[in-house]
Amino acid sequence: MLDDNPTPKRQISPKKSSDDQGLEGLIRPQKLAEFIGQERLKSNLSILIEAAQVRGEALDHVLFHGPPGLGKTTLAHVVGNEMNVNVRITAGPAVERAGDLAAILTNLRAGDILFIDEVHRLGRAVEEILYPAMEDFVLDIIVGKGPGAKNVRLKLPHFTVIGATTRLAMLTSPLRARFGASYRMDFYEQPAMETIVTRGAGILGVSIEDEGAAEIARRARGTPRVALRLLRRVRDYAQVRAEGDITWETAMAALDLLEIDNLGLDDLDRRVLSAIIEKFGGGPVGLDTIGASISEESDTIMDVVEPYLLQLGFLERTARGRIATPHAFEHMGIPMDPNRGANQPTLFGDNNSE
Ligand SMILES: Nc1ncnc2c1ncn2[C@@H]1O[C@H](COP(=O)(O)OP(=O)(O)OP(=O)(O)O)[C@@H](O)[C@H]1O
Ligand SMILES: [Mg+2]
Repeated sequence: MLDDNPTPKRQISPKKSSDDQGLEGLIRPQKLAEFIGQERLKSNLSILIEAAQVRGEALDHVLFHGPPGLGKTTLAHVVGNEMNVNVRITAGPAVERAGDLAAILTNLRAGDILFIDEVHRLGRAVEEILYPAMEDFVLDIIVGKGPGAKNVRLKLPHFTVIGATTRLAMLTSPLRARFGASYRMDFYEQPAMETIVTRGAGILGVSIEDEGAAEIARRARGTPRVALRLLRRVRDYAQVRAEGDITWETAMAALDLLEIDNLGLDDLDRRVLSAIIEKFGGGPVGLDTIGASISEESDTIMDVVEPYLLQLGFLERTARGRIATPHAFEHMGIPMDPNRGANQPTLFGDNNSE
C-alpha cells in the first residue's frame, strides 16, 4: 500500500547532499579527457574550445541542460580548466537585484567564465542587464536620481557565460537565444556508468569486482551522482557486513537493503507510480495532484522522478496529465484494467506539457 510519509533521505536522489562534499574535489573530473561518457557533447565542446583558443578569443556562451546529477556543474569547471581561465560561480536565485549582477560583471576579467546555475530562475530585471552584457559586452547603468539621472554605458571585458538548467522550457527565449551553444545532457549508458563507478572506487580506495561495479551502475538510473552515492553506501555495507571488497553479492545485498529495485527505482519513484496507477486509475493526472496525493513537492517529482520514468517508458506526458504505461503496471505488478484507455483521446496528444 501507499506510504504517505516523505522519505527522510533518498539514497537515489540526484540532488546534492552533505556527504558528497568531502571527496567531491577528488572525484570530480578536471579535464575533458577524464570526463566519462557524453561522447557527442564532448566532441562538440572540444571543437568549441579549440576554435576559441586558436582565435585567441573568449569562448562563446554555453548552455547545459538536462536532469540533475549528470555533470553540468562539472563540465563548467572542466571548460574553465581546459581554457585555463577563472570560473566565477553564481546561481539564478542568488542574483536578486540587477545591481548584484552588475557587481559580478564589472569584476570579470577577459576570458573569465561566469557560471550561472539554475539560470532559468534569474529575475526579469536581472535578465535585462544580462542581455546586452552577453551580446555586446556592455553594461547599461543609470547614474544619479531624478531629472539629473543619466544613462551610462560601461564596456565589459569579453567573458563567457556558462548556464546550467534542469528546465529548458522555463528559460525565456531571449536568454536562450544568447547562448551560442546549447547542449543537452542525456542519462549515461551502462558502460560509461560502470567506468564512473570503477573510477570512483579507485579514488575512494575500495576494491571492487567488475560485477559489483556493473550492479551499482545498473541501479543508478544513468546518473553519475546517484552512482557515486550508491557506491559509498555499498562500501559502508561491505566494510561492516562483508570483507570490505565490493563483490556482486555485496552490491546486491546492500542495494536490496536500500530498497533500490533492479531498475534503480526507489521508494519515491514507486510511490509516484502507484499513486498514478492506484489512486488515479493510471491517469491522466496532473503533476500537482500526484504531488499532493503523496505529500511531495511537484518540483521534486518533475526534476528528479519524472525524467527517469519517461526514459524507462513508464510514463507519458499528455496535455491532460501523466499516464502510466503498461510497462509501469507490469513493473509494479498491478494488472491493467482492460477497459482503460477507451475514453482517453489525449493519449497521443501534446507531449510537451511542462
Ligand atoms: N562524466 C562524469 N564522469 C565522472 N563523474 C561525473 C561525471 N559527470 C558527473 N560526475 C560526478 O557526478 C556528480 C554530479 O555532477 P554535477 O554536480 O556536475 O551534476 P549537475 O548536472 O551539475 O547536477 P545539478 O543539476 O544537480 O546541479 C559529481 O560528483 C561529479 O563529479
Ligand atoms: Mg550542478
